[in-house]
Amino acid sequence: MKIRAVYPGTFDPVTNGHLDLIQRSSVLFDDVVVAILSNTDKIPLFTPQERVEMLEQVVKRMPNVSVSTFDGLLVGYAEQIQASVIVRGIRAVSDYEYELQMALMNRRLSSRVETVFLMPAEAYSYLSSRLVKEISVLGGSVHGLVPAIVERRLKRKHGKRP
Ligand code: PNS
Repeated sequence: MKIRAVYPGTFDPVTNGHLDLIQRSSVLFDDVVVAILSNTDKIPLFTPQERVEMLEQVVKRMPNVSVSTFDGLLVGYAEQIQASVIVRGIRAVSDYEYELQMALMNRRLSSRVETVFLMPAEAYSYLSSRLVKEISVLGGSVHGLVPAIVERRLKRKHGKRP
């Protein structure tokens, strides 16, 4: 039986930490669908289309990884695409409480989908999209923290030459 995993998130923007988890997931599962939540309460910096473009670019050499968007309940989407696993990353203990709550709630909503937690490489344990945006808007360098395409797009958003 082939196992499809869904890796959901806001990805505003995708970081090297996300990419690390996508790579790990692509080794563990037959195929991985990176699912971008399009309607979020947070006001995103990048549109869903821009986030799709950046993610598609970074996963283009991973044959069993695809990119999509979703709205509504994650478990509903997972069932719709026949994913039996939800992948979420845990960087530090501080992530655990929220992730546990979400995983247990998702389990209550659907017993057909199991959440699997993965740890990114230590080098990315303090990395987040929120910090990347903050550093970028304040003129700091995000080199090495995000894929090159994201670095260029951030510079463009913040009015600097790419
Ligand atoms: O990258 P993020 O912001 O940590 O991702 C959060 C995400 C998209 C995984 C979460 O907000 C989500 O699953 N949203 C979809 C709505 C939903 O299913 N809510 C119930 C969660 S228990």
